[in-house]
Amino acid sequence: MRLAVLASGRGSNLQALLAAIDAGTLPARVVGVFSDKPTSGAIAIAREHGLHSVALKPRDYADRVAHDEALFSAVADVQPDLIVCAGYLRIITEATVRRFEDRMINLHPSLLPRHPGLDTHARVLAAGETEHGASVHAVIPALDAGPVLAQVRLDVTADDTPESLARRLAPREHALLVASVGAIASARARLQGGAWQVDGRSL
Ligand code: GRF
Repeated sequence: MRLAVLASGRGSNLQALLAAIDAGTLPARVVGVFSDKPTSGAIAIAREHGLHSVALKPRDYADRVAHDEALFSAVADVQPDLIVCAGYLRIITEATVRRFEDRMINLHPSLLPRHPGLDTHARVLAAGETEHGASVHAVIPALDAGPVLAQVRLDVTADDTPESLARRLAPREHALLVASVGAIASARARLQGGAWQVDGRSL
């Protein structure tokens, strides 16, 4: 399965996918890494691995639609079977989401439908919640609102901070993303008409 990975940050989830591919446990290939941040860790990791990468700064484009069109035409060029948003921090325009319907997933650091959007760790603490986690979901035009494929959970402790939550969640997110992409690559999970079918059953 040909993967295009989109990331704005450190790229630890990209690294986890590459490690699983190298270990032979994930039947996939990363055919391109795409970012809005040329200086991101994700782009550095792509270069270290000799992967095709494209980073386009939003401020070089007239508006969000023009930036999206440029970045996603580069994505389309690599003919991905699946687009994996792993910490891509920009909202993707509706036309682009529709163009790649049923072929795009996102990793989000909360137990969706709770806490779509940014700053999820701080918001979990501010709400006094005792449970946090991460979700892999299909990308639809509404932000972080697509059907969820899988989640991991984490107990929040009294002394947690946004940083400690992020740190403790990271390895679980990596495992969740690798398992989710693995399920799709092995055809155990399939997105059809915006809905998940897993092991032949609708979620
Ligand atoms: C992850 O926490 C992901 O859930 C969020 O951004 C972070 C990306 O981390 N959306 P990394 O760049 O993969 O290290």
